[in-house]
Amino acid sequence: MRIVFLGPPGAGKGTQCERLLGHLHIPHLSTGNLLRQAIKEQTSTGLLAEQFMSAGQLVPDPIILAMVGEWLEKPEAQAGALFDGFPRTVPQAQALDDYLNHRGTPLNVALELKVSDEVVIQRIASRGRADDNPKIVAERLKSYWNQTRPLLDYYHRQGLLEVIDGLGTPDDVFQRIKDVLVRRGGTNCQPRNAAVGKAASSG
Ligand code: AP5
Ligand code: MG
Repeated sequence: MRIVFLGPPGAGKGTQCERLLGHLHIPHLSTGNLLRQAIKEQTSTGLLAEQFMSAGQLVPDPIILAMVGEWLEKPEAQAGALFDGFPRTVPQAQALDDYLNHRGTPLNVALELKVSDEVVIQRIASRGRADDNPKIVAERLKSYWNQTRPLLDYYHRQGLLEVIDGLGTPDDVFQRIKDVLVRRGGTNCQPRNAAVGKAASSG
């Protein structure tokens, strides 16, 4: 399955992807994590990206597309992907569609985690990542509403958008996501350990 996670900063995209990894054999692509790793390693991409991330702005599309293009060529990415924080602009979404359609493996669903700005500000306040200070969070929210929000219509028009209430506990939200994925027919969404146990016990 190829699943796009949409939602403002702090909506729970990363949290829910981590949970899904316990259920689906699908690699997780977080462009934010890749960029933070690049900054840590002081690569040329990292040095360039840091200027934008520390201002709460989106990193320019060509940098992101080069990085994601490399990731998509990995053998394990053929099995599917949990796209977390990518795409974030219409050109990124179009580039992803072009790539996946050309490969004959289009997206299955785009999940919007719906949470108000007030709630995400509260959630992020208690975390402490480099870009979690209130001024940068305000800019990240602006970037989301101006540049990423149009993707909701983009995926809605393709019949791919599912809106998930992002309020409640992480378990509540995860249950809603599983219900949607089962309804969409892409998976039975059973925990991976249970599947392994069953396979082992059946010899
Ligand atoms: P990225 O790393 O993608 O950050 P983000 O989307 O702005 O925000 P978060 O990762 O904080 O939110 P999340 O939705 O993953 O929430 P999380 O699960 O962590 O991007 C960082 C930067 O990189 C961008 O600003 C941009 O500069 C650049 N970038 C990345 N991708 C790019 C792209 N494609 N194009 C251009 N630039 C790009 O949860 C947040 C907190 O809330 C956690 O503490 C968590 O424990 C808590 N929490 C989660 N769920 C719940 C719940 N249900 N109840 C209570 N607390 C909860
Ligand atoms: Mg995240």
